[in-house]
Amino acid sequence: MKLGIRKKVIDININTKIVKVDPGNLDYNIIKEAADIINRGGTVVFPTETVYGIGADALNDEAVDKIFTAKGRPQDNPLIVHIGDFHDLYDLVEEVPEKAKILAEKFWPGPLTIILNKKDILSDKITAGLDTVAIRLPANNIALAIIRESKKPIAAPSANTSGRPSPTEASHVIEDLMGKVDMIIDGGKTYIGLESTVLDMTSSVPMILRPGGVTREDIVEVLGECSYDPAIIRSEEKIVPKSPGQKYRHYSPKAKVILYKGSVENIVKRINIDYEKYISLGLKPGIMSTVQTEKSYEGKTTICLGDRTKPLTISSNLFKELRDFDHMGVDVILAEAIDEKGIGKAILNRLGKAASEVIEV
Ligand code: TXA
Ligand code: MG
Repeated sequence: MKLGIRKKVIDININTKIVKVDPGNLDYNIIKEAADIINRGGTVVFPTETVYGIGADALNDEAVDKIFTAKGRPQDNPLIVHIGDFHDLYDLVEEVPEKAKILAEKFWPGPLTIILNKKDILSDKITAGLDTVAIRLPANNIALAIIRESKKPIAAPSANTSGRPSPTEASHVIEDLMGKVDMIIDGGKTYIGLESTVLDMTSSVPMILRPGGVTREDIVEVLGECSYDPAIIRSEEKIVPKSPGQKYRHYSPKAKVILYKGSVENIVKRINIDYEKYISLGLKPGIMSTVQTEKSYEGKTTICLGDRTKPLTISSNLFKELRDFDHMGVDVILAEAIDEKGIGKAILNRLGKAASEVIEV
């Protein structure tokens, strides 16, 4: 088996059909058309509750190849397989442990991806040669309807060009994948805004490889135990992450991102100083503020992410704001860290990966 690193986005030119679907009132003609494209080996972008995904038939290698090509994704980064019903899991994995049943009962449909030992029906294309596969049941009517209508497990990574922030609305997908996929379904803004929690269930204690909407606390509450991949906790050390996707620099806008950690008071003080420094260097800085700090940056280029006490407002806006700063022509994004509680852990994980510099104040 060959696993090359493919960085370049190959120029493909497909006639991309863009359609709007109301998740509360599904148009079944469009769902059938999307399922038909999947069954014919094509690619369809659809919303999930986390981010938009680029989907293809997980059992068709040629179709899966189209995902890698459209995204410019390295071949050694395995894909998540999306299912429409819990029982579909039995077709794809060797064994469904009791703990997985408990988690599925509690968190599916929802932003939790579980990793189990795969069945041979899944090729190396999906799993990048690993013996395990990542599976999730998304909580979005459009995604579920397409999976169920196609009667196929659907491989779907985030629908961005590799390395760019994941798309949380259709315009982001169009920016990255127009002409590279068969269909883009616009189902509005995604609810959570960060990719699902990836949980390895092949170790004795379940281990979070990528933090997301289902938190460690949530999992401990039902299973009694859950650990983090050490690479998530001590990102400054050279520990190889267990999830191949986590080793890449990620979520990067074109602008340089600087992340400020410390007390809110110190963060605000330092960002104000650094903002002026970048102006004097002839650069265009932009500040990612919060409801609580917005007023401290008066007269400066600022986007307010959300409320520090309601981290879901921040997670749902983060990737959009990284892209918005690019559209504004900002050179340096000065980003405030938030509390690491709950989904705050996932927000900081993504900000940390987007940042080329972290300043402790
Ligand atoms: O919320 C989500 O999970 C979105 C939506 C579209 O469902 N999908 C998504 O997929 O974020 P993607 O491909 O962008 O991220 C999948 C992550 C990567 O970091 C990959 O390395 C990891 O899951 N992964 C997949 N299979 C794995 C496996 N067998 N072992 C370890 N990590 C795995
Ligand atoms: Mg991704």
